[in-house]
Amino acid sequence: MNFNARASLPRLGAGIGLRRQHFAEIIDRRPPVRWFEVIPENFIGRGGFIAESLRRIAENYTLIAHGVALSIGSTDPLDLEHVRRIRQFCDDVHSPWFSDHLCFTMVDHVNLNDLIPLPFTEEAAHHVAERVRVVQDILERPFALENVTYYVAPSRSQMTEAEFITQILERADCGLLLDVSNVVLNAANQGYDAEAFLDAIPLERVIQLHLAGFEKNGDVLLDTHARPVSDETWRLYRKVIERVGPSSALVEWDAEIPSLDRLLQEAEMAQKLMDDVAALRAS
Ligand SMILES: [Fe+2]
Repeated sequence: MNFNARASLPRLGAGIGLRRQHFAEIIDRRPPVRWFEVIPENFIGRGGFIAESLRRIAENYTLIAHGVALSIGSTDPLDLEHVRRIRQFCDDVHSPWFSDHLCFTMVDHVNLNDLIPLPFTEEAAHHVAERVRVVQDILERPFALENVTYYVAPSRSQMTEAEFITQILERADCGLLLDVSNVVLNAANQGYDAEAFLDAIPLERVIQLHLAGFEKNGDVLLDTHARPVSDETWRLYRKVIERVGPSSALVEWDAEIPSLDRLLQEAEMAQKLMDDVAALRAS
């Protein structure tokens, strides 16, 4: 993906994840949501209520596809059939870009149903970048990798997480889905400085942001997506917006999912911070 393709992507403001619990309410009420993030794997091959709800919601809202099963870092062969299905899904819902996680989920053709971090090595960076290029060729739209959380520093690492991410993005020439809460969490758990991390990655490649809540267990922060966005994450998000400008920021809440109105409150907070920064820049 060249720089112009990224630069021309819409900056959608704050959105929320589309979850089944809210389908009927969204269709009935048509709440003022700027956009929804949709997980293709929850919809591909589904009919009935799920397919019909997606069709009706897609008529009225911008949908952005975000995958969970690409397993871009796996040593198993890329599942090209899966990538083609994702391409079709993105075409169907008019998703201007697609993202998935910088991790692996498949080992020996078994799906571990978890986002497992890669060792920060030259070999892994090269492997992922090659596969991203294949994925981008099939998708024919910009693709972004998301930074994931990890609790134990991957063994055999030869570089920092920031260096690893930078190498892959530049080798593959792809975008970054910057999960701001994952930076806060990894910085706390691994003992590095979150702002120094931002300094070390190519922020000009950011095409989307994630914001999610986490929980404390003793000294460790856990990436549960079951809580409101934390104050530390809001603070770092503001710094990111100051540097990248208005963006497309998604509030993730995947467990103990609250009411639609509560989710919309979180999205409004994300939008307000974005608007405040834009107003300050303009003054
Ligand atoms: Fe995320």
